[in-house]
Amino acid sequence: MPTAASPDALRRWFDYDTHASAPAAGSACSTRSAWATVPPPLDDSLREHYRTRIKTLLHRENAVLVAHYYVDADLQDLARETGGCVGDSLEMARFGRDNDAATIVVAGVRFMGETARILSPEKRILMPDLSATCSLDLGCPADEFRAFRALHPDRTVVVYANTSAAVKAQADWVVTSSVGLDIVASLHARGEKILWAPDRHLGSYIQRQTGADMVLWQGSCLVHNEFKGFELETLRQEYPHAKVLAHPESPDSVVSQADVVGSTTRLIQAATELDATHFIVATDMGILHEMRMRAPGKTFLAAPTAGNSAACKSCAFCPWMAMNGLAGLANALEHGQGEITLEPALAQAARLPITRMLDFAAARQARVQASGDLEQDMELYSHVGAA
Ligand code: 13P
Ligand code: SF4
Repeated sequence: MPTAASPDALRRWFDYDTHASAPAAGSACSTRSAWATVPPPLDDSLREHYRTRIKTLLHRENAVLVAHYYVDADLQDLARETGGCVGDSLEMARFGRDNDAATIVVAGVRFMGETARILSPEKRILMPDLSATCSLDLGCPADEFRAFRALHPDRTVVVYANTSAAVKAQADWVVTSSVGLDIVASLHARGEKILWAPDRHLGSYIQRQTGADMVLWQGSCLVHNEFKGFELETLRQEYPHAKVLAHPESPDSVVSQADVVGSTTRLIQAATELDATHFIVATDMGILHEMRMRAPGKTFLAAPTAGNSAACKSCAFCPWMAMNGLAGLANALEHGQGEITLEPALAQAARLPITRMLDFAAARQARVQASGDLEQDMELYSHVGAA
């Protein structure tokens, strides 16, 4: 059965919203500070100016842009147009590691930049805004996680990629949403008991799917935690033919109504392939840019984030992802600002569990490709994401 994590970590999580002051440069910032530093929309001529400048700078710096599906559409387009990558966390990690550019610019949140740093110690890793963090990372401090882990020495430690390098360094395995279920299923098949952190919704989804014995840290994502099951039911009655696509960081009341549950890549694939005209999407709305490009003519509706009497804090937009803008990206490339650094011993300790995940995903993909069983292939890709 899931058990609760440290009350201190939970208290800190609720405190995040009460810090309104601007963050120190490079330090993680609260929800309100993040919203306060989201770049304002630019007019067309300024956008074009930055787009041209960034293309020149990427070339000058021998740099490649790696962007997540939640960041601003201009950044996603630039990554695609310049030979970079737009992807989920697993694809971003893999692409950054395998690309031979001297500089990787990560448009996303801090843990994604740190993962690139860990996997590519010889490259320079830049981010448009170093204080762009993640509520899951904030809600799982390394020292409290160490104490939690010490309570369960007999368990295999599996942590979600949305954590600091200092938490990853304590793990046996790092997983992303595209491969977590398969990895836990294989550990469970070997008879291993799991200690999972930090997202309680993803952890309990994996637990329900695999039947694994898991102890869960009680973290949650600010954005996905706001999706509401009851209001989703009402919206589904209005659109009875719509398919529901949910990221597994959403609560069970939402996930249990979904036609497809999976990583951002998996949800985009479903929007493209499923024979439906309407989709209700329970994840950050930044993903609609890619969905609309790949499935033009289909209609995408945001899953409800607030009940009748409640207001939403994120309203289906991650404030930290939204901190990534064209000006910050140009500045990072022009002046080398926003460089991710990590203590080498820490990076080395965190590399092992991440490499295990990447090796697992690659081996499984190769094995199924070799089998030539298309149906099995589809099943596998639904968990490990695109190559
Ligand atoms: P994906 O790995 O599915 O892109 O998820 C990352 C994330 O932060 C979701 O909130
Ligand atoms: Fe973290 Fe949630 Fe933002 Fe993803 S959407 S980066 S889990 S806060």
